[in-house]
Amino acid sequence: MLALSEYFAEPPHIEWFGDRPFAFSRLSREYAERLEKAAIAKEDDIKALPVSPGWETVAEINPTTARFSRYSAFLIMPVTLPLFFAIRETYWHLLEALDQKPAGRFIQCWFNIHRSGQSLPRHHHVYPFIGTFSAHAEGGETRYGNSKQESDSDAIMPHTNGQLVITTGPNHYHNTSPWTDAERPRVTYAFDIVEAENWNTRQFFLPFDFA
Ligand SMILES: [Fe+2]
Repeated sequence: MLALSEYFAEPPHIEWFGDRPFAFSRLSREYAERLEKAAIAKEDDIKALPVSPGWETVAEINPTTARFSRYSAFLIMPVTLPLFFAIRETYWHLLEALDQKPAGRFIQCWFNIHRSGQSLPRHHHVYPFIGTFSAHAEGGETRYGNSKQESDSDAIMPHTNGQLVITTGPNHYHNTSPWTDAERPRVTYAFDIVEAENWNTRQFFLPFDFA
């Protein structure tokens, strides 16, 4: 296995959009493609899992996302191990920028596969930190903002394959542009970094950070 530094095409850096910090880093395109293929190979297994509570109405247009709480990408695909470490490096960089100390936290991680015409509707997560890895999402964008509806003040983030983005979660709404490539699906990995008190036996939370 390569050293983590060999997977980083760009080390983490911080950019602010309004009151929101975003940590960005980029992993190699070759690694992104391995993660793209690995997700697609597992797609049917994931679609066979029960839908996560609250996702019933959009499960049809978000078949993999709608099962996000039923597995951990890190437990079913060994190829995700460098991603786990890259997320942690990038998250620690964000903590440092926020002048926060590492704390006992867990992570849940799933993947999203969207085909032509599909998109993720506007939503937010209740957890302190959220993030996305673009395995293959070039040509699409995600809008982030503090309001439930799209707004002119939204930060619009175009996706680059290999890009890792982490930001703060609560009331940080986001939605994706509809995917338009009929030949090749959009594949991203998404994750929540959650407080120790969020841990429960209904979701796949893995130990991630420690004080
Ligand atoms: Fe999300």
